[in-house]
Amino acid sequence: MSGWQGDLAGSVALVTGAARGQGRAIARSLASRGAVVWATDLCSPSTTAPYPMSGPDDLDETVEEIRAEGGTCVGEVLDVRDSGAVATLVDRIVAESGRLDVLVTCAGIVSIAPVAGMTDEQWSDMLDTNLTGTFHCVRAVLPAMARQGSGRIVAISSMSGRQGTPNLAHYSASKWGVIGLIKSVALEYAEHGVTANVVCPTNVDTPMLHNAALYSLFAPELDNPTREQVESRYAGMSPMRIPWCPPEAIADAVDHLVGDSGRFVTGSVLDIGLGTTARMP
Ligand SMILES: NC(=O)c1ccc[n+]([C@@H]2O[C@H](COP(=O)([O-])OP(=O)(O)OC[C@H]3O[C@@H](n4cnc5c(N)ncnc54)[C@H](O)[C@@H]3O)[C@@H](O)[C@H]2O)c1
Repeated sequence: MSGWQGDLAGSVALVTGAARGQGRAIARSLASRGAVVWATDLCSPSTTAPYPMSGPDDLDETVEEIRAEGGTCVGEVLDVRDSGAVATLVDRIVAESGRLDVLVTCAGIVSIAPVAGMTDEQWSDMLDTNLTGTFHCVRAVLPAMARQGSGRIVAISSMSGRQGTPNLAHYSASKWGVIGLIKSVALEYAEHGVTANVVCPTNVDTPMLHNAALYSLFAPELDNPTREQVESRYAGMSPMRIPWCPPEAIADAVDHLVGDSGRFVTGSVLDIGLGTTARMP
């Protein structure tokens, strides 16, 4: 299904971190269901993440893919750490598109350090991006959604937001914080027709997972491991023996939460965990 005939026809969606990875898959899926998608991303290097961020060409590719598939998409550079820029873009979307129905916060970074060796910059950039960035976006869209009496917010957290993770304490704290933020928003806005939910993926097949720094975290004894070498390691960590999810699996979860099937779901955390959830109390 694509364009005007989808179940989200007439609705408007904002997706952050949409230049590649999960954000791109989510933007494509929402557009294929008829939403006008505002696809946004930082599109410049990070000072703390030990792998390349996406660039302007990646965001262009997202927009082009969606348009080639018959969808409607606007690409915009947006740093979620910049509260003023987030508010300005949301005002523009509401002015130009007339409404704002869906927010999916996907922008995020990861870096690696034990707590005792973590720099102030690693800590604050992580929290600023993953948690405060999510807050900036959620705060900005709530007035328009409340005025409409409807809205769907989905924040992408992580299985690291459900359990402690050595060498990723700042990541874990930021993703755990996202859950607290979104559950609180769900309660504040439940009677205004706005739902707010969290999706917690385990490993996903994106550049955030596939880089030398992350490989060395999960396969420390291997010298310069390749994707093929870490595949069995990652598969061994998951009860389903599957090494990583495709980004489209996360888009499917978002689809459920923003579609009619999710109309009674708010304040929930949906784990896409390949079975790891079953180990949690
Ligand atoms: N890949 C995984 O294994 C995995 C697992 C669990 C959760 N997650 C989470 O899923 C989300 C999407 O990550 P992904 O896997 O698609 O990785 P990714 O690195 O491919 O995509 C993340 C995107 O966020 C953008 N970004 C970074 N900082 C930004 C900022 N300040 N403002 C706007 N955009 C910014 C990057 O440019 C990049 O395009 C992230 O929040 C991540 O923490 C990823």
